Amino acid sequence: MNKNLIVPKDIGQAVDILLSGKVCAFATETVYGLGGDATNDDAVLAIYESKNRPRFNPLIVHCADIEMAKTLVDFSPLALELANFWPGPLSLVLPLKKSASISSLVSAGLKTLAVRVPAHPLARELIKKTGKPLAAPSANPSGKLSPTSAKQVIKAFGGKIPVLDGGACEAGLESTIIAIDGEKIVQLRAGALAREDIEKTLNREILIAKKGSAILSPGMLKSHYAPKAKLRLNVNEPTGEGAYLAFGNAQEFAGKMLNLSPNSDIKEAAKNLFAFLHELDEGGTKLIEVAPIPHEGLGEAINDRLLRAVAPKG
Ligand code: TXA
Ligand code: MG
Repeated sequence: MNKNLIVPKDIGQAVDILLSGKVCAFATETVYGLGGDATNDDAVLAIYESKNRPRFNPLIVHCADIEMAKTLVDFSPLALELANFWPGPLSLVLPLKKSASISSLVSAGLKTLAVRVPAHPLARELIKKTGKPLAAPSANPSGKLSPTSAKQVIKAFGGKIPVLDGGACEAGLESTIIAIDGEKIVQLRAGALAREDIEKTLNREILIAKKGSAILSPGMLKSHYAPKAKLRLNVNEPTGEGAYLAFGNAQEFAGKMLNLSPNSDIKEAAKNLFAFLHELDEGGTKLIEVAPIPHEGLGEAINDRLLRAVAPKG
């Protein structure tokens, strides 16, 4: 298949591809997703194969609305409260219904399923028109950086995957993943919805999943989100041996410098993070020195991605 780039007008073409059991990447407000019909084993297998993703790492299922999600998972009153953040960058890990019409490969054998209703209008239209829940991991080969533009998806898969182009992703970081354990709310992955914002709205504490805790995201256990270049973190004074990824008021720097947010706006920095790492990788940079990023708000997710990017691979 070489329908490389599908413009938004061709949403019908994307629907046809998905209904034929093949994969099609599409824009969401977080990052681009590699979509497939979650009810079709072949489509779900094709997702795992295209990404070279370990089969034990379950996928997030994207729904057009909460009604669609309710056919797949059970919502406790607490889960319903959290679902008020939909459509938006929040994935909820909830008990999978026995009656759910879904490929068993999606949840990789777990009794739970991660679901979310994306906010990007094109993504929602695609799901509505397909009429099926869409399994969609980030549209990158396993372990690599998530794409925030259609061009990055095309490049990452050598033009073999069709992409429904919805422009640059608004958030630029993956969704926040939350699991509910009785009355406890546990964050499995920091993401584009800041934990503090959820805590304020719900007036409840959110726990952070730690290594060894009962519920974990299988995909969060090792090195991930890695650019090709080596990263050095919390660098206030760049050595000049590589490029500098600055934040806020940065000093003059003779080498290549990209500033995540000259005005120290953490949301802007989140949006730029993957895009800038992609840009530096494309430029062939071997070393990226990164300025310290504050931990507040979306800073939690940014620092999480940076730490995983420097973690030993394996
Ligand atoms: O923003 C996003 O979430 C993007 C867009 C495309 O929606 N998707 C995304 O998917 O980041 P992916 O597959 O790259 O990351 C999904 C994470 C993985 O770490 C996986 O282990 C975890 O979600 N996950 C999926 N189902 C789970 C479950 N039932 N329990 C715990 N973790 C789960
Ligand atoms: Mg991913």
